[in-house]
Amino acid sequence: MRLIVLGAAAGGGFPQWNSACAVGRRAWQRDPAARWRTQCSVAISADGERWSLLNASPDLRQQILATPTLHPRHGPRHSPIAAVVLTNGDVDHVAGLLILRESQRFDLYATGAILEVLERNPIFNVLNPEFVRRRRLRLEQPLALDGGTTIVPFAVPGKVPLYLEGEALEIGAETEDVIGLELWTEHRAKAFFVPGCARLTPALAERLAGAALVLFDGTLWTDDEMIRSGTGVKTGARMGHMSVSGPEGTLAAFAALGVRRKVLIHINNTNPILLDDSPERAEVEAAGWEVAFDGMEITL
Ligand code: MLT
Ligand code: MN
Repeated sequence: MRLIVLGAAAGGGFPQWNSACAVGRRAWQRDPAARWRTQCSVAISADGERWSLLNASPDLRQQILATPTLHPRHGPRHSPIAAVVLTNGDVDHVAGLLILRESQRFDLYATGAILEVLERNPIFNVLNPEFVRRRRLRLEQPLALDGGTTIVPFAVPGKVPLYLEGEALEIGAETEDVIGLELWTEHRAKAFFVPGCARLTPALAERLAGAALVLFDGTLWTDDEMIRSGTGVKTGARMGHMSVSGPEGTLAAFAALGVRRKVLIHINNTNPILLDDSPERAEVEAAGWEVAFDGMEITL
């Protein structure tokens, strides 16, 4: 299986258009240690010909331009993109669907809850149903994607998209609103894509233990990072993201799981691990993690 990180940043990208926070400022200055990153999406394929996008980011057009593997090759209408799989309904994961509106055949997979969100938003009807089949993902049911990879969707603790938050908001529920994807390689090695996760439950930890590869929610370094950086009023917990650092954080939670390759993805523009020379980056690397970047390729 080949996997290409099309975008490694969380919503807003890095740098974010309206932020010159301490971390973002380095990126605006084009500091080589603060590499720019687009919003979170990954492409996977087993045969190298037919690719599936895991989430469709608002930066999708730019991501396709930057990735020769995804360029059209055969005639006036062709794309190696055979499918799009959504892990939730957040803007940073669905807005790219609008980029794919040029009457091109592909399959769009999402859970029932997320398909409903798309159905309720008529703008997504620009995806002509004659060409784009919307197909329901069923939790825990393996699905063979065109291109040869099998995925298994599973619920992870999360919440509804920000734009659907109501008064009775539940955070950390394991529903169809936020899923992770188990990816089976041809050799039955397991990889995981979990770009958003509110909490590593014992069951999820057990599922991930011993995996060949995990790409995991790297949104924030500390829970109060947005507040302290003056970029927001919410904690990570309130946004449905566990933090990377701290006793309850991702580094600690994965320490004993025996995952062979651990990669942080969906990284917010305030997170100091984005800087190649930060002490926080040194800390994640010392704990055996890599920080995803646009164009990162992994073969399993
Ligand atoms: C998130 O990952 O928490 C969301 O993308 C936030 C948002 O929609 O702005
Ligand atoms: Mn997001």
